[in-house]
Amino acid sequence: MEAIDKTLLDAARRVRKSAHAPYSDFHVGAAILADDGKVYAGCNVENAAYPLGNCAEASAISAMLAGGGRRIMRILTIGSGKEPVTPCGGCRQRIREFAELDVPVVSVGADGGEMLVRTLEQLLPHSFGPEFLESKK
Ligand code: THU
Repeated sequence: MEAIDKTLLDAARRVRKSAHAPYSDFHVGAAILADDGKVYAGCNVENAAYPLGNCAEASAISAMLAGGGRRIMRILTIGSGKEPVTPCGGCRQRIREFAELDVPVVSVGADGGEMLVRTLEQLLPHSFGPEFLESKK
């Protein structure tokens, strides 16, 4: 495992313990290596009004922006169960807003199983992004 993934894994594991997931009981942690060299982490935050819940990736992106980071250089997610938890479709698009297409997205299962590494482009091919709106300026 690359040293940076060990750092991201530790951060994601730690923040996953703070997840508020009483409805799904599916606890997720996400950690971002940002362009400022810092690591930002976030967990999923569910709500009794179900659709209002936030994914861990969304929380980590909020933490990054609040902390002064602007771009995602690498992101790791860890969820419940043995299988690597890849970001949901919505979160792939959220990541797309702040990452280049070749950014590695690392997914891990909570039980320390296999680690899956894919680029954002592999997870979200033929995607729509901020540059499509450039012509409007
Ligand atoms: N979840 C995440 O936090 N990230 C994902 O990419 C997949 C899903 C959360 C949302 C919800 O709180 C729980 O996992 C079950 O879907």
